[in-house]
Amino acid sequence: MRQKGLHSFFILISLIFLLGTSQSMAVLDEERANHIFNDFIELYRLYGGNKYMLEEPIIQSSHVLQAAYIAQTAGAPDDIVIGLLFHDVGQIIDADRIGDTQSLHYDHDELGALWLKEHGFPEYIWKFVRYHTLAKVELCALNDQYYNKLSKASQESYHIQKSKYAAPQEQHHFEIFRKNPAYWDYLNARKCDDMAKIDGFNTAEQEPRGTLPGFEAYRDQVVRVLSGKSNPATNPNWKETIESHYQLMATNFPKFAQKIKRAETIKR
Ligand SMILES: [Fe+2]
Repeated sequence: MRQKGLHSFFILISLIFLLGTSQSMAVLDEERANHIFNDFIELYRLYGGNKYMLEEPIIQSSHVLQAAYIAQTAGAPDDIVIGLLFHDVGQIIDADRIGDTQSLHYDHDELGALWLKEHGFPEYIWKFVRYHTLAKVELCALNDQYYNKLSKASQESYHIQKSKYAAPQEQHHFEIFRKNPAYWDYLNARKCDDMAKIDGFNTAEQEPRGTLPGFEAYRDQVVRVLSGKSNPATNPNWKETIESHYQLMATNFPKFAQKIKRAETIKR
């Protein structure tokens, strides 16, 4: 009798373990992945035309497309490129808060990460989205010149985000972030976010002679990451390439903008 009870107990524990494992490794079929991407594109069709930040020259959709494109041309892994494409989804998922930039600076990272997690994105990607504002605060702490090179609007949001994570009940997020194995990947990817503010670099949909690849250029990659088949970097030195773009951006913005606009379009 006692043996039977023990047997049932072990079966129950195994089921709980299997359930937990299958949830953390959730992969989606292609149809579901395409459906999620269609919903995401629709969000940007509805709200992506809003200014990224009031003082910024570019609109929301150009910002995320530029961020993904900079990483793409550097040969970054699928997960980084798609993480950048989705990193600001928290800015537009709540129609009632669209344009409420002050409050969205505070928590769009959390909202976005939750959305990605709920939609089955890999942990590596939703954690990048969760930490992308922390990464900016961290980059400023590591190098005081980093702050000076941020756009004016991004400097303003930095102060909101810095004071949020300085609060005693929030400080543990820094420790968790620093222990993440992808810490350096995330810091590097964050630089693409801060570079993605090139005025006049838009898609053909937004302006007749626009050359910035649009959302559809990323469909295969989105399906890959959601179906658990992400491709690794095409350039083993992708982080160094992003860093060299960043250095050019920090020293000669017009030259950097020209270089990115003329970068070869990569289809993967
Ligand atoms: Fe951003």
